Amino acid sequence: MPAANVVKLPDNASFDQGASLGVPAITAHRALTVTEGGPQRLAPGAFSGRIVMVAGGAGAVGHAAIQLARWAGATVIATVSGPEKAALATAAGADHVVNYREGDPVAQIRAIAGDGVDQILEVAFAPNVKLDQAVIKNHGTIAIYGDNGGDVAPLDLGVNAALNTRLQFLLLYTVGEDALATATADITAALRDGALPVGPEHGLPLHRFPLAESARAHAAVQNNAIGKVLIDVAAFKSPVRPER
Ligand SMILES: NC(=O)c1ccc[n+]([C@@H]2O[C@H](COP(=O)([O-])OP(=O)(O)OC[C@H]3O[C@@H](n4cnc5c(N)ncnc54)[C@H](OP(=O)(O)O)[C@@H]3O)[C@@H](O)[C@H]2O)c1
Repeated sequence: MPAANVVKLPDNASFDQGASLGVPAITAHRALTVTEGGPQRLAPGAFSGRIVMVAGGAGAVGHAAIQLARWAGATVIATVSGPEKAALATAAGADHVVNYREGDPVAQIRAIAGDGVDQILEVAFAPNVKLDQAVIKNHGTIAIYGDNGGDVAPLDLGVNAALNTRLQFLLLYTVGEDALATATADITAALRDGALPVGPEHGLPLHRFPLAESARAHAAVQNNAIGKVLIDVAAFKSPVRPER
């Protein structure tokens, strides 16, 4: 790991948190802070009065997004595919949870956000583009970080022009050092405030494997384990470098 990419955990943060939040929390931070006219930093109160919709709120990035947005004072609507994931998004702190597969999600979201939502964090833009267009507020931003469900989305130019929608794509590997530094500073502050707990009771189940069973850990990821897959390396001793 390049030293520049290593971040010291605050004393009150566990290694489980450190292992769970790197990529998801930084992704969520970036997606939350790229809105037109919106806050560019996360801090308590920064998002007061804003409505944030987190698509796939029970995913790892979605989980971090809910926690960070709530810490910053937003009202959070999470979309999920079923009751198990609804429970996880609620445990993470979502104010409202909407099943995007049942009933009329647009009507449910509009009942919560009459004028529309200020910003959307999107994990599955292709399947959700119509939903997003139907609930985004005028001058709202859709931050797109995932391509679940396909990578070609039919955009309605007229609808988006009338709404002055901003589409913001993002990829951590190319987003740049400044964005990463800002994110790690804000996430560290959230950790210090105890705002990013992990574990099933906080909406992020942890699946642990010993280092010797790393292959099973990878299989769990490939099989779409819900939550985070962690490998315990405590028993691992690195080889001693021989004296010259
Ligand atoms: N751009 C970046 O820099 C960046 C960084 C991190 C991750 N990613 C990408 O982001 C994606 C998610 O990562 P993750 O770690 O959060 O994965 P994850 O923990 O597996 O979560 C993915 C979530 O996507 C949700 N989902 C799938 N289809 C959906 C749909 N049509 N509408 C709403 N939600 C939907 C699923 O929830 P339901 O089952 O409830 O639908 C699931 O909870 C991955 O594709 C990953 O590669 C990108």
